[in-house]
Amino acid sequence: MPINDSGQREIGVGLIGLGVVGGGVARALIERRDYFARQVGASIVVRRAAVRDANKQRTVDLPPGVISTSVDDVLTDPSIDIVVEVIGGEEPAGAYIRAAIAAGKHVVTANKELIAKSGPELLAEAHARGLDIMFEASVGGGIPLIAPLRRDLLANRITSIRAIINGTTNYILTSMAREGAVAEALRKQGIEPATRGGYADALADAQQLGYAEPDPTNDVEGYDAAFKLAIMASLGFRTRVHPSQIHTEGITRLTSRDFQYAHELGYVIKLLAIAEVIDSGIIARVAPAFLPQDEPLAKVDGVYNAVQVVGDLTGTVLFQGRGAGADPTSSAVVADLLDLAHAIVLGNRERKYWGPEGEIPVLGLDALETRYYIRVGVTDRPGVLAQIAQLLGAHGVSIAAVNQKEADADARTAERVIMTHRARERDVQAAIGEIASLSTVGQVSAFLRVEG
Ligand code: HSE
Repeated sequence: MPINDSGQREIGVGLIGLGVVGGGVARALIERRDYFARQVGASIVVRRAAVRDANKQRTVDLPPGVISTSVDDVLTDPSIDIVVEVIGGEEPAGAYIRAAIAAGKHVVTANKELIAKSGPELLAEAHARGLDIMFEASVGGGIPLIAPLRRDLLANRITSIRAIINGTTNYILTSMAREGAVAEALRKQGIEPATRGGYADALADAQQLGYAEPDPTNDVEGYDAAFKLAIMASLGFRTRVHPSQIHTEGITRLTSRDFQYAHELGYVIKLLAIAEVIDSGIIARVAPAFLPQDEPLAKVDGVYNAVQVVGDLTGTVLFQGRGAGADPTSSAVVADLLDLAHAIVLGNRERKYWGPEGEIPVLGLDALETRYYIRVGVTDRPGVLAQIAQLLGAHGVSIAAVNQKEADADARTAERVIMTHRARERDVQAAIGEIASLSTVGQVSAFLRVEG
């Protein structure tokens, strides 16, 4: 390990990517260098930063010669001990990380997709060489989640992880809920609200504010949350949950009416990422859901994230904070860097905290039992409700409450909002299939789980 002029040992860092997160990491390493050196017993130095465009304006000043347009400059530099990958996406990031490991370098990454899909294999490659891959920044930005799941909760048998883990969608849903509440208040005063308050308006606002990307698919379809849930569930349950095993629904079909009815019934709508251990396996899902207003996660609004973990020794533990952005995410990357630097200084290298204990089966939603909210457009005439109730009853689904909404006397149409008691998903789905084919039913407009 090189020694600098002040007699301190130096640990070299190479960045792949110098965008929002990479720039934040470089800035923190430069501005807080002395503090970090005191904490880990070595000076951490950015030796190289690989970028696509060397002429781009940066938010951080790096010494001449550090910025390069060649990733090989990072991967082949013998003075680099730790490579930080912050470009995201499966490839070429995966190839770069493998090359870094092959070159004997530890890795810190913020890459949720890659870790969710290939984390165990990449860690095995690293551990076989006495190296480590750290990925705190891959889930929940600045909220400590990976270290608690990997290490601090290790003594527990974790039975449930419930999370709001995507800031973009939480911002959109919070906006829709607020517009829905305003609309409801106006209607109560006999005033028909303006048409704002739908999904498209809320998404457009989030894009204007930089909370949603120009192509929001990854966030609004729930994929980003599913990657993060796969990582948390794999670590927490000490098994392997692949993103493809997670039932994933997005938020694009929600309407302001669902928010209005949720509010009236004492619920909020959140995109929830839930993984639970039941007797026969794990059920994992990302979907918009009704949540009682008094649940802690129901109060997590805007771009904030929160994760509720239940351990058999700890009981419920709640983590909450900013799940994205340059500063929170760089906090997580730098924490991993400091941890690795300290381990290098101490001479002990990889920490084997992924630790699967065997494969727990991941079950389909058929095995789920919960309560359900169903909104159905119907012909408003005698006997329609009885038909719907009969089909639900025939499948063993018991109705807890039913309301008639938005009746249009001229068109003789109405909306029925049905809340069920606890029921099996396979039974509810079978009943809904039959309800949708009734001649008196226009469509089943919404179907949401009640997760309370
Ligand atoms: N769009 C993501 C979010 C960024 O809103 O949570 C962090 O993964």
